[in-house]
Amino acid sequence: MTPYATLIRGGLLVLPDGAGGVRGEPGDILIEGERIADVGRISRPPAAARVIYAGGCAVLPGFLQTHVHLCQTLFRGAADELSLLDWLRNRIWPLEAAHTPDSIRASARLAVAELLLSGTTAVQTMETVRHTECVFEVLAESGMFAVSGKALMDDPTTCPESLCQPTDAALADAVDLAEKWDGSANGRLRVCLAPRFAVSCTDECLSEVASLAEAGNWRVHTHASESRDEVDLVQRRSGRRNVVYLDHLGLTGDHVGLAHCVWLDNEEVDLLSDSGTHVLHCPGSNCKLGSGIAPVPRLLSRGINVSLGADGAACNNTLDMFREMRLATQLQKALHGPQTLPASRVLGMATRAGAEALGWGGQMGELRPGRWANVVLVSLQGLHTTPSPDPLSALVYGCKSSDIRSVWLAGKQVVAEGQLLLWDEEDVRRDANREAHDLFERAGVA
Ligand code: GUN
Ligand code: FE
Repeated sequence: MTPYATLIRGGLLVLPDGAGGVRGEPGDILIEGERIADVGRISRPPAAARVIYAGGCAVLPGFLQTHVHLCQTLFRGAADELSLLDWLRNRIWPLEAAHTPDSIRASARLAVAELLLSGTTAVQTMETVRHTECVFEVLAESGMFAVSGKALMDDPTTCPESLCQPTDAALADAVDLAEKWDGSANGRLRVCLAPRFAVSCTDECLSEVASLAEAGNWRVHTHASESRDEVDLVQRRSGRRNVVYLDHLGLTGDHVGLAHCVWLDNEEVDLLSDSGTHVLHCPGSNCKLGSGIAPVPRLLSRGINVSLGADGAACNNTLDMFREMRLATQLQKALHGPQTLPASRVLGMATRAGAEALGWGGQMGELRPGRWANVVLVSLQGLHTTPSPDPLSALVYGCKSSDIRSVWLAGKQVVAEGQLLLWDEEDVRRDANREAHDLFERAGVA
């Protein structure tokens, strides 16, 4: 049987430029079944194809956010004006400990709805210690692409009792999740091992993560060198710089993604570069928590893959990739001059670099035949993007999430005319508000 086909006609295609960035070119996209079948001028589409006219729109591969916490979406606006360690100890950890399966589901649904409506089609996430199976259930229902893992927290000297697990139990839970969910939903869901950060884990846990990741061919996702206080704490505990310590335990390499990497010395940059470790840059979170500004141009100049992520609604406070792209380039321009991180390069970080960081390079992140059909239409016809002589400039400096017109996940349309088709938006909002209210009461955090 011929697979279901969609022809997206006459848009401005955002295509890879072969140098880490993108270029714009007018053309068409043919989706057949779950994959992109053709890209360019398509003169003979299958007769039965549904035709979508994309005039005035950019056509992009969906954005990939490589560091997000879906479980923290209900904490939006409830943990402002705090620095990382106080934010975690006084707000985030008590709130995570108060989650139930229902509140986690509401949080994940809210996140997925916001992500899809702003053009993100794949994520890497770190969840809390419990109920991560509920996040996978929501992701499976949504059709979204995700690499997710439960947070590992096993050091009783640094973790609250409410979240701390014995090392063996924490690792056994993570392996159970991996055995159940890795490769599920037709390969759309994968599992990562996610030690929360060096501060929350014992040496034994981190070394075991390195061995398990190798044996199971699983990715490792953690936070590193986000704030100065965290780096000082790791130095006091381990006698080493954060990335040196992780490398010593086997936690660097092409299968490892380190969120933040704001505070690095030269030796650490060398280690990241030599090992092919991915840096998951979160500029919105780094600004809001007052953590600092990651040395992105220095990392890129060393050939390190740098992708983007909104981190979480508890520290950003939105999951909108347009804001992340704009901030990523503007911060570096303020520091290093206006030619730093041009729009083309930032769009590459939001798409192709994200796919590399998730181990999905060659599978998504580019509009090319054979890739998963994760496709996004963005209107360039808002007042705020008029006139638009350079569409790449409009996408990075002007566009907002409300400019998203349509989104396809593996060929299935989940957003049309800016409306979510997947779930009732009002239902998602009502559920989130109710669950957040009850969760704050349980946590005793006003
Ligand atoms: N470091 C350890 N845990 C977290 C977290 O949940 N968010 C951020 N931004 N940094 C962390
Ligand atoms: Fe984070």
